[in-house]
Amino acid sequence: MNDKQKVAIHAAQLIQNDMIVGLGTGSTANYFIEELARKHHQQGLHVQCVASSIVSTIKAQELGLPVVSIEHISRLDIYVDGADEVTNDKILLKGRGYDLVKEKVLAKASDRFLVLADKTKLVSYIGQNYPIPVEVMPFAWKLVLASIEKVGGQAQLRANSAGDGLAISSHGSLVLDARFPDTISASELNHVLSSIPGVVEHGVFESLASTVFVADNGHISEM
Ligand code: A5P
Repeated sequence: MNDKQKVAIHAAQLIQNDMIVGLGTGSTANYFIEELARKHHQQGLHVQCVASSIVSTIKAQELGLPVVSIEHISRLDIYVDGADEVTNDKILLKGRGYDLVKEKVLAKASDRFLVLADKTKLVSYIGQNYPIPVEVMPFAWKLVLASIEKVGGQAQLRANSAGDGLAISSHGSLVLDARFPDTISASELNHVLSSIPGVVEHGVFESLASTVFVADNGHISEM
């Protein structure tokens, strides 16, 4: 069993009957969905799920989990998702995929947000390994880019995976992948990016994670 699977199975033990459970997106979240489905079928665990992406909706439905539409809920008991980077004060970088908007909405609406990480995700500052994804309204991308440059950042529009066009997020936004000097703290980045008009959402998740589980060679620790 790899570390992503191990940490996902660990988190699934915290799910109780009748919870509304938010499903994240990505390879670690997939392991969590599989374990939740196993507990649903083999142990009679009764939950309602709401997913952060079409991909996770399809996976959960194929595995026989009850999935409700995000439009039908006003709160969740628990949201479980992976992350791209995690600092020791539980600030996250997310959004290497295409589902950042729903991921942040669900994380915020949830009583508890459990983050599943392996030790490769631990960083000393946000932006250490990846640029920061900034979803923008398509018409505003150049104005947002100018605002990012004004605070010392650099950014470029994300290309699609074929490399012959632009990536479009699940929400219909363009994505600017931005880098900033490491003298700007994650809190400052969160504040700056949240206050640029035309930004739909960005990948800095501050004060959202309740618990981060970190798997390191089969051993799970908790932050
Ligand atoms: C999705 O937008 C991302 O934030 C994922 O949660 C993140 O990329 C983690 O993915 P893995 O679990 O595949 O590493």
